[in-house]
Amino acid sequence: MVRQAIVAGNWKMHGTRAENQQLLQTINDGLAAVTASQVLVFPTYVYIQQVAELITEMNSPIGLGGQNLSEHAKGAYTGEISAAMLKDLECSHVLVGHSERRSLYHESNQLVASKFIAASEAGLTPVFCVGESLAERESGRTMDIVFRQIDAVLDIAGMTGLCKGIIAYEPVWAIGTGVTASPQQAQDVHHEIRSHLAELDEQLANEMQILYGGSVNATNATELFAMEDIDGGLIGGAALKADDFLKICIAAG
Ligand code: 13P
Repeated sequence: MVRQAIVAGNWKMHGTRAENQQLLQTINDGLAAVTASQVLVFPTYVYIQQVAELITEMNSPIGLGGQNLSEHAKGAYTGEISAAMLKDLECSHVLVGHSERRSLYHESNQLVASKFIAASEAGLTPVFCVGESLAERESGRTMDIVFRQIDAVLDIAGMTGLCKGIIAYEPVWAIGTGVTASPQQAQDVHHEIRSHLAELDEQLANEMQILYGGSVNATNATELFAMEDIDGGLIGGAALKADDFLKICIAAG
């Protein structure tokens, strides 16, 4: 079974209108060299509309997503953004449970699972982020932590529901640190995740796209993406540099 590769750029809290335009234009111009992989960008909320308009103007194959969403459908939730709003702005995807949301904004496994459901019900594809901290890895608890994160979604969405999303394994110790998981370290976790899912449904587990994120760059992407269970990347810092991002897209095939 061949899973389509995905390269997703999480722009985090970066960008101006001018920078977004320049970045998107350069990526789009260079994408002619890339054939098979799906390329997605995740700007901050306030620039989603701008990026959606640029994508349309450029007649670009680049897909668009939000970095977060509310677990609620609508109502008195000052400062929050709903799944339906993201959909209305032409997003197809949304990140849920990024480790920065989990650690800095105290999002629990249960809250992340609710956001996953809210996204899915609105017709967005959740890019569901999981991963362990350095202390958790060093104490041998990586898979325990990752399975707990995944099981929180499985408990309320079931295997069919989970498989409407994409998983992104992002070890917290590798995010923004320049320390990448080795291809084998990443592959081992991806393989464990797939085996965990295969206990419930082998075919769906084989179809599940599992991305790696954490200090992916133009140099290490090829080796990471060559691993059997790594189906592309969720890119932070390198997604803000058009040339590096394009090299990563090319590495994904
Ligand atoms: P870096 O690529 O900057 O390590 O960030 C990864 C990430 O958090 C993507 O969501």
